[in-house]
Amino acid sequence: MIRTRRRMGPVAATALAAAMLMLVGMLTAMTGTGGALAAGEARNAAEEAHSPQPMQAGTLWEAAQRTGRYFGTAVAANKLSDSTYVGILNREFNSVTAENEMKIDALEPQQGQFNYGNADRIVNHAIQQGMDIRGHTLAWHSQQPQWMQNMSGSALRQAMLNHVTQVATHYRGRIHSWDVVNEAFADGSSGARRDSNLQRTGNDWIEAAFRAARAADPGAKLCYNDYNTDDWSHAKTQAVYRMVQDFKSRGVPIDCVGFQAHFNSASPVPSNYHTTLQNFADLGVDVQITELDIEGSGSSQADNYRGVTQACLAVARCTGITVWGIRDSDSWRASGTPLLFDNSGGKKAAYHAVLEVLNGGQAPPTDPPTDPPTDPPGPGGCTTTYADGQQWGDRFNGQVTVSGTNNWIVTVTVNSPQQVIATWNTNASWDSSGNVMTARPNGNGNVFGFTIRHGGNWNRPSVTCRTG
Ligand code: G3I
Repeated sequence: MIRTRRRMGPVAATALAAAMLMLVGMLTAMTGTGGALAAGEARNAAEEAHSPQPMQAGTLWEAAQRTGRYFGTAVAANKLSDSTYVGILNREFNSVTAENEMKIDALEPQQGQFNYGNADRIVNHAIQQGMDIRGHTLAWHSQQPQWMQNMSGSALRQAMLNHVTQVATHYRGRIHSWDVVNEAFADGSSGARRDSNLQRTGNDWIEAAFRAARAADPGAKLCYNDYNTDDWSHAKTQAVYRMVQDFKSRGVPIDCVGFQAHFNSASPVPSNYHTTLQNFADLGVDVQITELDIEGSGSSQADNYRGVTQACLAVARCTGITVWGIRDSDSWRASGTPLLFDNSGGKKAAYHAVLEVLNGGQAPPTDPPTDPPTDPPGPGGCTTTYADGQQWGDRFNGQVTVSGTNNWIVTVTVNSPQQVIATWNTNASWDSSGNVMTARPNGNGNVFGFTIRHGGNWNRPSVTCRTG
């Protein structure tokens, strides 16, 4: 299975993806077998291209990925030896957050002495599995080691910035998103910053942390993360919104806002959740649900999970959901049974609700006509048969078989905003709009293929044939 890969520069990512897709397509069309490949991912892709993708994804990450999103979980390093836990982790998730192992007290227990052991175990597991990694968290009033708790003023500011720089540098290139600053606003109606030793170093401590993180790892998305920021009408939500608005207007490097989303009867899922997510996204940042758990059971819990998932899917810039643990027994609120799997690892009603919503969240592969179209004979009598290929969250493959002539010219017209981003077994050229591709034989027979980045439009291209 292809999972999301860790972030790269856009140029490198595009080039690698195009090269991989070309290779996969050539192998699929020319050899019919995977063969011996240099790149593991290409091997996986080639194998997958031979098995038709089911209409409904069977796991959380696959269903989320089809919508262009990730589905993650908090992970505890000491549970990586639990086979039930790891089995569910590897099967259902394509993003991880270290539940405690990347906190300040864990990584820098003595000033200037960094201990990456447990965090690296999680990072290495994620990388081996092709999962993304959310880093949590670089600067926080809580979980500070004793030495930091005892500091204040410029010495604390400097120590905090050094921590941000050291840790973000250690993990440079491996983190999808960093929670740069966590929980810096007060609860209640004040809309004020939370009082803390970090806040007392000056109001600009948050932006200083973001600038240090950007300098250390320019490829990671930088998030502000908090709880009780889900209800649009709450003063805390409004205060965080104003900070993000201010940061964007002044060029402070912020890319995303994390909504922890710890819900229970005292803090229920708000009916305006979608509004909150959309309003933040409209500031020009991604939004991520970062620590989701909802206490309860049965259908009411499932309905709440359904609502949160729908709210995320309704916001284009809601790029992923992370639940705060796997089984109920893994939760920091275990007695509230707030997660998607029961203590034995069984799927709960909430799991099925989330999966169902994710599977309907993007026009599923059933949208195109189920019978691949064969175009009527064109001048000279050639015909084409179009076949669906592999599908990913942001793109899909198509394959055309030409019959009736070996001297064909096939016109492939994609549907806006689709774009052909790779081809194989054909010499292709495009018109000025980029929507109409003219394909001609390249000496490798009468079957050719292409990859379309769909931009939200899953409709098949129209294909016509004429003789050359
Ligand atoms: O591992 C030790 C154990 O050896 C020791 O015997 C025991 C005694 O207290 O403590 C254990 O460590 C605990 C750790 O969780 C692992 O279970 C810590 O005391 C406890 O403070 C820690 O709680 C974590 C909490 O953050 C504080 O950092 C929770 O696991 C973790 O789920 C929770 O996560 C936070 C997010 O980081 C931020 N948002 C809220 C969320 C929930 O509180």
